[in-house]
Amino acid sequence: MDYDAIQDVVINYEITDVYLMAAMLSATAEKFPMKAWNLNMNSLFNILNLARDGKIDRIFWPSSIAVFGPTTTKENTPQHSIMEPSTVYGISKQTGERWCEYYHNKYGVDVRSVRYPGLISYKTQPGGGTTDYAVDIYHKALKHKKYICFLNEENTLPMMFMDDAIRATVNIMLAAPEDVKIRNAYNLAAMSFNPKQITESIQKHIPDFKIKYELDFRQDIADSWPQSIDDSLARKDWGWEPEIDLDEMTKIMIENLKG
Ligand code: SER
Repeated sequence: MDYDAIQDVVINYEITDVYLMAAMLSATAEKFPMKAWNLNMNSLFNILNLARDGKIDRIFWPSSIAVFGPTTTKENTPQHSIMEPSTVYGISKQTGERWCEYYHNKYGVDVRSVRYPGLISYKTQPGGGTTDYAVDIYHKALKHKKYICFLNEENTLPMMFMDDAIRATVNIMLAAPEDVKIRNAYNLAAMSFNPKQITESIQKHIPDFKIKYELDFRQDIADSWPQSIDDSLARKDWGWEPEIDLDEMTKIMIENLKG
């Protein structure tokens, strides 16, 4: 992450708003801790510093449910909660949240953030996250009618279809600055499900689809995360409301991946 190169682009193209989506996700970050830390933190500092110096007006930087850890309440996890993340990715997101809030309070930087749940899209391949099984499962269901899952069947996690995630991202960025009261990151939710429930949802379209379970290190990551999220402050402050549930998402995923 070259600060001067980013600054040149920002100035030459008169960029006012930056959506900083670069990050190494949870499962990959466990394999490359220092690389993940450097990427996740340096990219954020570059953009925060450009905003502090008046070269960018607004920043969107995503946080994650990974900021929570094994000591957090798992059900309906509140906005303000114990946060003792146990993954490299979670530590980087929790640290990033602190810095975003600090830059806002100290330098007036207009940075806005949400804690994304697992994101599911037919346009993007799995990208090294723990929640990625919920993307891969659709590809494998259509191709092979079977999927080997690295999380156990009862492992419930908060998830969201990409269209909802994009709407949340755009809406928090369009909100009046005074409505964005939380400047670390907002809890955000749409649905929660486990591998068994997504399997049943897929079987409504592909009845002979089968799932098998072979757990790996990603189970430990998933065990440390909440099962459901209380996003009432995002709803209250800037009108967040999810639209897509599990069966609707399955329908869209299958229709678009069928090819
Ligand atoms: N989806 C991410 C991951 O699994 C969490 O934010 O790493």
